[in-house]
Amino acid sequence: MTDPQIVLTERVQQALARAFGPEHADADPLIRPSQFADFQANVAMSLAKRLRRSPREVADAIAAELSDFPGTIEVSGPGFLNITLGDAWIESEARQMLADPRLGVGTITPSQTVVIDYSAPNAAKEMHVGHLRTTIVGDSLARLHEHLGNKVIRQNHLGDWGTPFGMLIEHLLDIGEQAAVEQLKAGQGTEFYQAARAKFDADEAFKTRARARVSTLQSGDPDTLRLWHVFMDATVRFFNKVYDLLGVTLTDADIAGESMYNPMLQKTCDDLEAAGTAVISEGALCVFPPGFTGSDDKPLPLIIRKSDGGYGYATTDLAAIRYRVHDLKADRMLYVVGNEQALHFQMVFAAARQAGWLPESASAEHVRIGMMLGKDGRRFKTRSGESVKLMDLLQSAIDRAAALIAEREAAAPTADREYGDETRAEIAHAVGMAAVKYADLSVSHESEYVFDLDRMVAFTGNTGPYLQYAQARIRSIFRRGGIDRATATEPIVIGAPAERALALQLLGFGAVVEHATATSEPHRLCAYLYATASAFTDFFEQCPVLKEADPAIRASRLALCALTLRVLETGLDLLGVPVPERM
Ligand code: ARG
Repeated sequence: MTDPQIVLTERVQQALARAFGPEHADADPLIRPSQFADFQANVAMSLAKRLRRSPREVADAIAAELSDFPGTIEVSGPGFLNITLGDAWIESEARQMLADPRLGVGTITPSQTVVIDYSAPNAAKEMHVGHLRTTIVGDSLARLHEHLGNKVIRQNHLGDWGTPFGMLIEHLLDIGEQAAVEQLKAGQGTEFYQAARAKFDADEAFKTRARARVSTLQSGDPDTLRLWHVFMDATVRFFNKVYDLLGVTLTDADIAGESMYNPMLQKTCDDLEAAGTAVISEGALCVFPPGFTGSDDKPLPLIIRKSDGGYGYATTDLAAIRYRVHDLKADRMLYVVGNEQALHFQMVFAAARQAGWLPESASAEHVRIGMMLGKDGRRFKTRSGESVKLMDLLQSAIDRAAALIAEREAAAPTADREYGDETRAEIAHAVGMAAVKYADLSVSHESEYVFDLDRMVAFTGNTGPYLQYAQARIRSIFRRGGIDRATATEPIVIGAPAERALALQLLGFGAVVEHATATSEPHRLCAYLYATASAFTDFFEQCPVLKEADPAIRASRLALCALTLRVLETGLDLLGVPVPERM
């Protein structure tokens, strides 16, 4: 681990233990980036009170214990420790990182089995923007965990079961299988649903048929199941188009929708009832997990079997937890789902713990996803107030990217930008997806954010296209110089301040990847990559690379370029943001 902040934390902790006794070995030294040095440690202030000594004295004692430190330490003000790392240390760490195929990112040992529940659109309606962010954030978490050596099991918990399927199947029969399949494959699921719904509300005979169809579906009637499959296959084909466009790693093998749990629901309820965890209340079978009360202070029920005998969303999730822990052997379960389901998951997790289905050794975490808002600060909608279709939204991002690229080409034609039509379309796709994905990832996942295409697609600021551009620019250095970047492995030597700042920044990569994974916060990786691209921009403005006359300096700068490129590429890939060769 080369992250300077972590290295410093350990060093100062050792110094604390030597100066004041082993009981201080795990005190937080409060290392923070500083204006006056690389970092400052503020621990002397807080420790002084407890030790009944002056902060200045405490700081001096810590500094004295850090005499072998590879840099300089100064005590300033009332008792801050200003820490500047030695260039030789940064150089040697950077060289090690350059030689390390993992770029300082560790692996988790023993590896964990991580079940990630994400995307999970509802098949009864068309996939809409609400599922965009759960898909994108979940996919990044899957990539991060795999990179750290964990076994990831993706679970796409599709909404593919329940009462609406009665009317959907009847509507499918009415319009004919083939017409229905065409419509669903083309992403007209909402229209299909609305047509079925309209008949259901207006036509008594249709309503009766739809209700009867729910029963035959639930009883496992082969003909009805076949029709259900026809409906689902066409719907999933459309979902896959969206996944392909987005470049997410979900496949058909990851589909584990609500229907999969249907055969387990009765036993789920029976077992809970037999254990006394579930009780009948007002005709419904309910679990009352401890600690949940309604506005009237009465215990809040989690209904697992309605009074009409039907099972619900919670029943399925309880069956799913049991399956994931018992059959999939999950150590950690991440549910990447909208904020508004927070109470549902808290209650489901508590009920599962109560039932003994979620042992202490396993964790279940709701990775709460904040809502995407329109520019008016309300839920994102079309002008006519309907929910925006995902395909339309993605296509508009690609179109916007294409327009921007054409503008740039016209404004500043370079040999590098003489694309053919195919390359141009590829770049527009990569930039459009980067814009949408990065915007979702770069704010903390539980925050709401405003969907603003112009800002997201911009090539400047904290955006996906800016980071893509930063890495493409480094590639073009190697291309122009006719240099194979794999050969840029000469020692990194620090001269100019911008070289030093870039090298120091690069060393933090491993720590940020591990941290973002542990906390399910890809936005930390985004912030890090943005800071890295900015440090590179400063370096590139101040330090000539190809034009540098001194061969050792030139080689060192090329090595810095190569290392930055690998960090940006790897980081973007962990976010699921495509990295185009040129742009
Ligand atoms: N289909 C659900 C929805 O759109 C999300 C499912 C999330 N996963 C789960 N295990 N409940 O709201």
